[in-house]
Formats: sequence, C-alpha cells, structure tokens
Amino acid sequence: MTDDAAPYQFTTDWFDIYARRIWPDLLAQLQPARVLEIGSYEGAAVCFLVEQSAAQPSIEIHCVDTWGGGIEHQSAGVDMAAVEGRFLHNVNTAVARARHAVDVRVHKQRSDLALAQLLTQRGPGSFDFIYVDGSHQAADVLCDAVLAFRLLRVGGVLAFDDYLWAEDLPRGRDPLRCPKPAIDAFVNLHFPKLDILRLPVAYQLYVQKRSD
Ligand SMILES: C[S@@+](CC[C@H](N)C(=O)[O-])C[C@H]1O[C@@H](n2cnc3c(N)ncnc32)[C@H](O)[C@@H]1O
Repeated sequence: MTDDAAPYQFTTDWFDIYARRIWPDLLAQLQPARVLEIGSYEGAAVCFLVEQSAAQPSIEIHCVDTWGGGIEHQSAGVDMAAVEGRFLHNVNTAVARARHAVDVRVHKQRSDLALAQLLTQRGPGSFDFIYVDGSHQAADVLCDAVLAFRLLRVGGVLAFDDYLWAEDLPRGRDPLRCPKPAIDAFVNLHFPKLDILRLPVAYQLYVQKRSD
C-alpha cells in the first residue's frame, strides 16, 4: 500500500477503489521489472508500484500522459496543469523514499505516438505489466490495447481500468465514448493469445498474454 504518512498530494481515489484490491497479489506473483502506465494523472498507481516493488532489486516504470485530460476532464474543467504538478510531486516523493533502484520515465505525449515509439525503441515484448487507463474514447482504447499487447511479453499482464465506465449523456450511453466496446473487440480478436484473469471485481479487466 502507499504509505499514508508519505506527503502525497492526491485529489481522487480512482486507484483505491479497484486496483488497490487487486494489485498486491498480482504484483507479488508477477514481480514486474518493467511497467508501462497509459494515463498517469496524479501518479497514484506509480507511487503504489514504487512502494510495492521495494523487495525487488529494481523497477522501471514508463508513464504516458498528455496531461491535457480526457474529454471527461475537459468538460468538468479540471485544472490539468495542477494535476501534472501533483504527479511530479508525488512521483518524486515516492522515488526519493525508495531504497531500491527506481527508474521512472515520463512520456508527455499522446499514447498512440508514445507506444509506437516504445515499440520502435524497445521492441515487442519489452514490458511485464501494462495498465491501460488513458483516453476512454473507444477508438483510442482499441489503439492503446493493440499496441500495448505487442509491447507485452508472453506471460505478462495487461490491465484495463474503467471496463464498465460510460458517460452519463442526455441521449444515453454512446458506444464510441466508452472503453467496453473497444476492450471487448480487442479481447475477441486476440482470444487465442490471451487468458482473462478471474478477479473479484468486474469493473476492471485483466488479461495474461499466452503467445505473440
Ligand atoms: C483516469 S486518468 C488516469 C488515472 C491514473 N491511472 C490513476 O490510477 O490515478 C486518465 C489520464 O489519461 C490521460 N489521457 C487522456 N487521453 C490520452 C491520450 N490520448 N494519450 C495520453 N494520455 C491521455 C489524461 O490526461 C488523464 O491524466
């Protein structure tokens, strides 16, 4: 768990609601040395990863975010410059407190560009654990999922937050503006190459890569 005594600056509990219940067991089994997060916001997941990996010799964490916010943040008027400032404060705090080797690399750009660059620079199969929590627009999620699967090693885990999230629009749910149709399409197209992990929550979806 993130240490409550640490002077972190978080204004949301998104990470706490689901991921915090699942990650301790998952990380203990996977012991990921190379992690990619798409959508880092204030760095809650990164700080948790840094603290949870304390028994490992080292961890490398790549954070991809525009810090421009998704449509849902923009329509709510969230001050994303302040969010980015809290991300930097929180991650610097976690790294400074760590006694093991922690290498956090920040990619401030759109996820499609960042993931394509990581594929070119690092190659396929170069990550052990990937958390997809960036844009919630279906086409963006599908792009993130397909590229992330290529970046994931066989045996690695790909986690999707907000599988069941949808905007509360006056005309109802728009399938182009939520992650589920994209995640379902990704899972269906890759079904022979992955296993869906059985979890106590349905709001997030986790898959383990079986083959390339
Ligand atoms: C729900 S928040 C991430 C929360 C974070 N994972 C956590 O656990 O606290 C989504 C983030 O995705 C970023 N984002 C939205 N669309 C993006 C895109 N196309 N490329 C990169 N980042 C994006 C937003 O700026 C925002 O910070």
